[in-house]
Amino acid sequence: MSSQIYRSAARTARALLSASRSSSVPQGRALAAAAATSFRGKTAFISSFYEGTGSASRGWVSSALALPAAVYMLQDQEVHAAEMERTFIAIKPDGVQRGLIAEIISRFERKGFKLVAVKLVVPSKEFAQKHYHDLKERPFFDGLCNFLSSGPVLAMVWEGEGVIKYGRKLIGATDPQKSEPGTIRGDLAVVVGRNIIHGSDGPETAKDEIGLWFSPTELVSYTGNAEKWVYGNN
Ligand code: RTP
Ligand code: MG
Repeated sequence: MSSQIYRSAARTARALLSASRSSSVPQGRALAAAAATSFRGKTAFISSFYEGTGSASRGWVSSALALPAAVYMLQDQEVHAAEMERTFIAIKPDGVQRGLIAEIISRFERKGFKLVAVKLVVPSKEFAQKHYHDLKERPFFDGLCNFLSSGPVLAMVWEGEGVIKYGRKLIGATDPQKSEPGTIRGDLAVVVGRNIIHGSDGPETAKDEIGLWFSPTELVSYTGNAEKWVYGNN
């Protein structure tokens, strides 16, 4: 429903943008209010405003010359949705069993990142070995894979500007004894073997891990309602 509203608003916004460009209508803030209204489900208002026939528009917008601020905002959203970086984040069995799912998700949400895939799975040991294949020479590899496959893991894909690097910042250093307070591991974990969360460590890893844990159809592309408030240049 919200994506339909968005698509409809974006379509109208594009029409407005081209109309405003061709008629050299000055920029203004009134349409921002109009477009914002569309996100609350009043898409009809935008088109009636555009056509200049809607009675509702008279109550909201005093001048038909006030136009494209919101048009640009909507366009930016589309651009963002197409280009946004994604990372793989997993709450390991210890984090799930300790009831930390909501706490961890909320930290990513509050930052402004967007959840685009999520599922609860118990990975097999073979799957865990694939996930941690780069650590196969390390002495803790077998124990680590046993642990990751010991119970439910909450697998997620998060999207946002700089989400790979900043996701790692939110998570904190590998060893919770060295993680800063304020980070997930710093606040919620004590030892390296039970550090509750995994995050991709770079763009290549993120791509590989997302592909390992999720099929393309499980990744949901959408524009969040708050995106125009999370992103923007002044
Ligand atoms: P992760 O992959 O889980 O996000 O962790 P990370 O990048 O911060 O650290 P990494 O070096 O990739 O290690 C993967 C996981 O292995 C466990 N570990 N144990 N016993 C040890 O010294 C040791 N070192 C690492 C941790 O659970 C770490 O998250
Ligand atoms: Mg790692």
